[in-house]
Amino acid sequence: MTGQPPASISRPPEGPDRAAGAERVSPMSAPMSAPESPPQTAAGSAKKRLHIQSWGCQMNVYDSLRMADVLRPLGYEPHDSPVGADMIILNTCHIREKATEKLFSELGRLRALKAETPGMVLAVAGCVAQAEGAEVVARAPYVDLVFGPQSYHKLPEMIARASRAAGHVIETEFETEAKFDLLPGSSAPQGVTAFLTVQEGCDKFCSFCVVPYTRGAEHSRPAAGILGEARRLVGQGTRELTLLGQNVNAYHGQGPDGAEWGLGRLLRALAEIPGVVRLRYTTSHPRDMDDDLIAAHRDVAQLMPFLHLPVQSGSDRMLAAMNRGHTAEEYLRLVDRLRAVRPDLALSSDFIAGHPGERPSDHAATLRLIERVGFAQAYSFKYSPRPGTPAAAQTMQVAEAEQDARLQEIQALLRAQQAAFNAATADRVVEVLFTGPGRHPGQLSGRTPWLQPVHALGPASLIGLVRPVRIEAGHPNSLSATLLPEPEAAAA
Ligand code: SAH
Ligand code: SF4
Ligand code: F3S
Repeated sequence: MTGQPPASISRPPEGPDRAAGAERVSPMSAPMSAPESPPQTAAGSAKKRLHIQSWGCQMNVYDSLRMADVLRPLGYEPHDSPVGADMIILNTCHIREKATEKLFSELGRLRALKAETPGMVLAVAGCVAQAEGAEVVARAPYVDLVFGPQSYHKLPEMIARASRAAGHVIETEFETEAKFDLLPGSSAPQGVTAFLTVQEGCDKFCSFCVVPYTRGAEHSRPAAGILGEARRLVGQGTRELTLLGQNVNAYHGQGPDGAEWGLGRLLRALAEIPGVVRLRYTTSHPRDMDDDLIAAHRDVAQLMPFLHLPVQSGSDRMLAAMNRGHTAEEYLRLVDRLRAVRPDLALSSDFIAGHPGERPSDHAATLRLIERVGFAQAYSFKYSPRPGTPAAAQTMQVAEAEQDARLQEIQALLRAQQAAFNAATADRVVEVLFTGPGRHPGQLSGRTPWLQPVHALGPASLIGLVRPVRIEAGHPNSLSATLLPEPEAAAA
């Protein structure tokens, strides 16, 4: 059982925040020691060290794994630090201004390192590369490669071009079909929990959002490749799969039977693979929750009772201005329908404070919606104008101080709901999937069905297994628990 993500690829903290947000994900690396001198590959060429830093959503994390797969045959081995790396890839996020600025501050830091490391290739990938490739090269001329999320299969060719030519290689063509067809599925193990991208891109064009421009048109991966990758991951020790897509429930891929499959059908097929003990998906859009997917929440035992379902606002005026395509009441009805089939379903969401045109009464409507739903956790952001999006061009921008005040109110309410949700689990017996060692010796960490992080004392042999625990205390962000002794566990 492999409990860790493969080397040096930054992986964000687990949770539905992986879905969406850029700045809530901090770059970090799984440790891997650097060899003293470059070892030789089987083919005899010198091994090279690859450092990838990933920001943004889980789709970037998954893409970073794919880039490492593509480069492995060229002798690139994961390396945990930019120091000593032969190639550095910064996999970037463009969702909010702060996310984009992270790239430029990191590039500033890497400039000196590149100057003193002959032959180092510095690459910028991901959504900033796609949206602002020319600006990246203008602001950081020492960058060798700039390529968008649809070009990863061309990495070997791009590296060859960069080493031949003095100058930059910029690659931002959209080739959505090619990405799923040409990129190999995952080959390195991901761990007890794994991401699996099933859908890319977005056609919804919400007023504020860059994703349709950075990731291109909505496109679903054929189910056969997904099922094959799922089987491979389970063979490597994965027990929980989180299906990813910018609009994952817009999934409409070709099934192995030739018919078009929705996400509900895909989840049912994945649940039949022996060893898949938990399934999740993110990020979903309220407009794409069809009857079959709702029924899957009733029928598929492995589908966990936790759903990240962004709503952004509780005001119909704002939902219309945002081009979300539904009303607040329709969102509430949808939540009712989901809870009717799965009464223990916990919900998470995303909110934007201070979208252009938002009035105090719209903000009050958002607070009312939060009160009515009762979220187990959620993410909220101050509106950030993004170049080229319709909202950025609107004249009715909300003053920053007002945005801050509204955001704080939203966050205080969401924090209180999360703390109450966690506190309510105290003294209960819940099933935990143990995912790895905890922070302290003898401790394990895991997740409840509702994605709450749990810590309990227990043997490492439980990693990868689901076991009942008694929750001792529900803290604001995690739970502490005691493993049940076997007889009590059997009775639970
Ligand atoms: N596809 C998902 C969300 C993808 S982006 C959906 O439709 O809900 C992730 C989150 O970032 C969004 O839900 C939104 O809350 C936030 N976001 C996107 N663009 C933003 C912007 N310009 N300013 C502030 N927050 C933004
Ligand atoms: Fe962005 Fe809207 Fe598409 Fe979500 S649905 S990715 S918020 S445009
Ligand atoms: Fe960011 Fe691109 Fe994901 S903008 S949130 S990395 S789709």
